[in-house]
Amino acid sequence: MESSLSGLLPPSMLIDIPEIDVQHEEIFRRIETLKLSSFGSAPTSLDEFDSLINYLEWHFTSEERLALLRGVPFAEHARVHEENLQMLRKALRGVRDGSRDVHSFLRFMEYWFERHINEEDKPFAASLHAPQS
Ligand SMILES: [Fe+2]
Repeated sequence: MESSLSGLLPPSMLIDIPEIDVQHEEIFRRIETLKLSSFGSAPTSLDEFDSLINYLEWHFTSEERLALLRGVPFAEHARVHEENLQMLRKALRGVRDGSRDVHSFLRFMEYWFERHINEEDKPFAASLHAPQS
């Protein structure tokens, strides 16, 4: 059970939903680990990249479950999640077929992920924290 933060996630990116903050931190940790393991050479396997996207998909289902529990509308957010997964899987296919390098993928992933927290999850957290009518 994930339950605590290690300090990797910048305070400005916390959304004050502990379960989700811990998952966000884990995603940043995995991106950092992949940057380190890819530095100076191409990785021998892309399995950990697939694992990162699979973890992200699981993270999205966690957000969806919390929304359902609280009765917060989530259809638009879920649609964005699906688009995000398709976009990231397409980018990773680009690494596999040689049209994108692994560092480009990781820069893209990190930029996208910060945007996900700031533009998608912060408003989501605000709706979860709002008094239920
Ligand atoms: Fe998220």
